[in-house]
Amino acid sequence: MSGFKFSLVPQDVPKINTKFRRINTPIPVPESLTMLTALDNYESRSMHGQMPVVWDRAEGFQVSDAWGNKWIDFTSTIFVTNTGHGNHRIIKALKEVLEKPLLHTYTYCSKERVEYIKYLIEKTPKQFEKAFLLSAGTEATECALKLMRMYGQKKGKRKPGIITFEGNWHGRTMGAQMMSYNPAQKEWIGYLDPNIYHLPFPYPWRKDCLKNPEGFFLEGMETLLKEKNLSPNTDLCGFMLETFQGWGAVFYPKEFVQAIQKFAREHDILLAFDEMQAGFGRTGSLFGYMHYDVEPDILCCGKGASSSLPLSIVLGSSEIMDLPEIGSMSSTHSANPMVCAAGKANLESLFEDGLIENSRVLGKLFHEKLNRTAKLFPDYIGQVLGKGLLAAVHFNSPQGEPLIELCDKICETAMRRGLLVVHTGRETIKLAPPLTIHREALFEGLSVFEQSINDCVVGKTL
Ligand SMILES: Cc1ncc(COP(=O)(O)O)c(C=O)c1O
Repeated sequence: MSGFKFSLVPQDVPKINTKFRRINTPIPVPESLTMLTALDNYESRSMHGQMPVVWDRAEGFQVSDAWGNKWIDFTSTIFVTNTGHGNHRIIKALKEVLEKPLLHTYTYCSKERVEYIKYLIEKTPKQFEKAFLLSAGTEATECALKLMRMYGQKKGKRKPGIITFEGNWHGRTMGAQMMSYNPAQKEWIGYLDPNIYHLPFPYPWRKDCLKNPEGFFLEGMETLLKEKNLSPNTDLCGFMLETFQGWGAVFYPKEFVQAIQKFAREHDILLAFDEMQAGFGRTGSLFGYMHYDVEPDILCCGKGASSSLPLSIVLGSSEIMDLPEIGSMSSTHSANPMVCAAGKANLESLFEDGLIENSRVLGKLFHEKLNRTAKLFPDYIGQVLGKGLLAAVHFNSPQGEPLIELCDKICETAMRRGLLVVHTGRETIKLAPPLTIHREALFEGLSVFEQSINDCVVGKTL
C-alpha cells in the first residue's frame, strides 16, 4: 500500500440507475463521514487507506450502502468472496450452527469440523492427506515455514535454508515477512534471517528469462549456491512460491516452476505454494498452481477458502503434517465450528454450482475485453495479466514509468460510477469479481472501467 488517501470531500456525481448499479448521492456519502472519521480517530491507521464506501449489505456480485447506492463488485472484498457475497449455502450452514447454538469449541471435536476436514481432503488432490486449519493467511505461510524446516531437521540437514522469490509476498507476521521480498517492510525486524534466500523472479519483461525459463532458474540457483557456499542436499529445506505475484497477477513461465520441482525432488527439498489469492477457482482451476502441472508438497490457502469467515488452511502429506508433536501446532480459534460449516458450504458451492467452470469460461471473455481496452490506451496501459476471473491491468507510460497516480484516480472514478476495483497502491489495478457473476453484469462493469480510464486520461475525473 502507498500512503495514498482517498478524498473524504463529498463530490456531486452523475446519478446512475442501471440494472446492476445505483448511485443517487454525492460520493462519499455525506452521512457516512462520521463513521469514516470515527475509524480514523479510534483505529490504528495501518488498517486504513481503503475507498470511502461504508458497506451495509453485500449479495452475489453487488455491494450496497445504507443510502441506496449499489456497486458492481470487482474485488470479492480481496479475493475472498469467490462463491459470491452472502452465498445462500453458506448462510444456511451458518444458521444451523448458530441456532444450535455452537459458537466455539477450541480444539474439542465437533461434527462440523469432522465433516469439513473429511470433505476437504476428499475433494483436493491426493498428495494432500491432512489439513491444518487456521484463521489468517499469514499464519498459514508461517506454518509452512515451520513445517519445511522441521522436515529438513528430520532429514538431518545442516541448515534450515528456505528459497523464496524476489517480489513475492507472504503476509505480515515475522516469518512471513522474512520470506517476503520487500526490504522496507522488514526493517522493523532489525535483522534478516540468514537462511532465507530470494532468487530472481522470471518477470515477463525479462526477455532473457522468457527465452529459457529453466536456464534462468538454474542460473539464479547456481549463483546463490556459489555466493552463499550452500549444498542443496544439506542446506536447503524448502521452496516457497506465491502462485502468482499478487500486485500484478504475474505468473511464472510453466517451465520455470517445473524446473523448481525437478530440482526440489532431486535434493529432497519441499515445494510449498502460497495460494492465498489464487485458490478456490479464482484462476479457472481449483488451485492456481494447477496451471503449472506440478504437485506441491505443502499448500497454504486462505481468503477464498470460506468466502466469508476467517479461515486459512495448510495442506500436505501425513508425513509432513504430522511433524509437529501433539498440541504444538494448534491455535485457539482453529477449526471453529462456524468457520468449518462455512468452509464446507463454500466448497460445495464451488463444485456444485459450476463456479470454477464459470471462472474459466467467463474469464476468457473478461481477458479478451480487457485486452481490447488496453489497445485503446497504448500510452497508458502496458499489459493485462492474470487468468480466469482475475486480472491486473498494468499502467505504464510508453517509457515504462509506473503511472501510480493515474491508478489512484481511476479507482476513485470507477467507485463514483458504481464499480469497485482493487486499488493496489502501485501501477496496477486488479479486477476480481465473485465467480458467481454473469456475463451481462461483467460487461457492464468492464465498460464502466473503460469509461473511467478514458475520463482520467483526458483529465475529466468525476
Ligand atoms: C499471497 C498472500 N500471502 C499471504 C497473505 C496474508 O494473508 P492474511 O492477510 O489473511 O494474513 C496475503 C494477503 O493478502 C496474500 O495475498
